[in-house]
Amino acid sequence: MEALGPKSDGSPCLKVEGVSRDFRVNGRRVPILEDITFMVAEGEVVALLGPSGCGKTTLLNIIAGFMPQSAGRVLMRGRPVNKPGPDRGVVFQEDALLPWLTVAENVGFGLRNGLGKGGRRAQVDHMLGLVGLGNYGDYLPRAISGGMKQRVALARVLVLQPAALLMDEPFAALDALTRHQMHELLIALQQQLRQTVVFVTHDPEEAVKLADRVLVMDKSPGRLRQEFTVDLPRPRQLDSAGFLELKRAVLASLGQRRAEAPGPIPS
Ligand SMILES: Nc1ncnc2c1ncn2[C@@H]1O[C@H](COP(=O)(O)OP(=O)(O)OP(=O)(O)O)[C@@H](O)[C@H]1O
Ligand SMILES: [Mg+2]
Repeated sequence: MEALGPKSDGSPCLKVEGVSRDFRVNGRRVPILEDITFMVAEGEVVALLGPSGCGKTTLLNIIAGFMPQSAGRVLMRGRPVNKPGPDRGVVFQEDALLPWLTVAENVGFGLRNGLGKGGRRAQVDHMLGLVGLGNYGDYLPRAISGGMKQRVALARVLVLQPAALLMDEPFAALDALTRHQMHELLIALQQQLRQTVVFVTHDPEEAVKLADRVLVMDKSPGRLRQEFTVDLPRPRQLDSAGFLELKRAVLASLGQRRAEAPGPIPS
């Protein structure tokens, strides 16, 4: 598989335009997301950060096409999203590997038959190498660790070369060391693939470490509160003054009460 080349010129990959979502609870309409608007450029990594229950998963599900919005629209490379598609690869917090298939079979599961067995295997092997599991293709999921399963889940999505990778707290279930290793892996992969990524996290440090931009959300209803551009060189130095300052600013934004918050991000 070829790398996608240098980071693009900022052309839009994903546009979320005025997206709102209500849920009906006990016969009452409850607004969960309200007028969410943002753009993600090709090759950009964007973190969605917000308190529990602010609608991060709901928003990601709408972008993935798993759930319709109540208002507004989502565009992927200019096309409206109304169902799941191979242009959007999704990685969840808990892996969902097929337990009876090997690691390699799990990664190759979604690949088209048209590639032929040899072609499929070559792509799978390449991707397993990229996620550091070159020697584990023949293992069954029960024989590998949680962190390795998350790598397989990532490989299974990336092998399909999605236009955008969507991840919902992909590292939250991992221990601190494994999470750190997954961060390093993602940073290394990103250098090669220049993958467009939207990921959800609770963790300001994770957001500032991995993202080009951090979008902080409000709760009840979920809105975009503030946007931070992470203009720090990679790899990010977690103890540098710039990193610590931005992390503090993001944390402060997350902790603000709505009354003190700046207005919504202009579209
Ligand atoms: N199908 C549903 N019906 C009714 N309410 C729902 C439904 N799905 C989500 N909600 C509500 O929408 C709100 C946002 O949920 P969501 O799972 O998107 O939040 P989140 O930001 O991902 O939270 P967390 O950080 O805890 O994962 C919550 O109040 C939740 O109860
Ligand atoms: Mg969630």
